[in-house]
Amino acid sequence: MILKYSDLDTATRYKLMSQAVVPRPIAWVVTEGACGVNVAPFSYFAPLSSQPPVVVLSVGHKKDGTPKDTLYNLTTTRKATICSVGEAHLKKMHLSSTSHPIEEGEAAIYDIATERIREGYPPIVSGCDSALFCSFYQRIDLPGSQTIPLILEIHAHYLREGLADRDLNFVIEAMGRVGRAYHPPSQELIRL
Ligand SMILES: Cc1cc2nc3c(=O)[nH]c(=O)nc-3n(C[C@H](O)[C@H](O)[C@H](O)COP(=O)(O)O)c2cc1C
Repeated sequence: MILKYSDLDTATRYKLMSQAVVPRPIAWVVTEGACGVNVAPFSYFAPLSSQPPVVVLSVGHKKDGTPKDTLYNLTTTRKATICSVGEAHLKKMHLSSTSHPIEEGEAAIYDIATERIREGYPPIVSGCDSALFCSFYQRIDLPGSQTIPLILEIHAHYLREGLADRDLNFVIEAMGRVGRAYHPPSQELIRL
């Protein structure tokens, strides 16, 4: 079967892409704004380059056409902390994708504990294995796109105490997304 993308609507393209580019790690993005601490998951997320050390995160708009709070906060404060999601956080991560008015932060609504461990950046979600302290680098405007790819530069990397060995080898528990389902983490690495 060959499906021509120009014949497909956006929802169908999303359905195909989100099941074919798998698993996509979930970026649990912490930003700050009027609401205090805002936490939301994004799976259109990938590393782009290590020099400069940047990742891309694609963030869309709410149903009413206003930018999602993460997009608004990121372009205003220019800072984000991107946390990994382990199995223990799966339920709260999923709940934090519920849309709320910008004055209401998901961290407080869903009782998601956070810790401020680096001055000048949003806090990490307590208990995460890894967190990237990032600043806004560049926005990519794709003609006709409903989501805005944002390039973020990594300035510092938090790793849970004891996770990495002396050579900085480590395996994080990172839930991935396959279509609309979640891919359970595996601690087993297969080295060939
Ligand atoms: C696992 C998962 C992945 C998601 N990935 C994205 C994404 O890549 N881009 C996006 O715009 N929304 C994505 N969403 C939806 C947002 O999390 C949702 O719109 C959320 O309300 C945004 O919150 P905010 O307004 O606080 O930024 C995803 C939701 C889930 C559950």
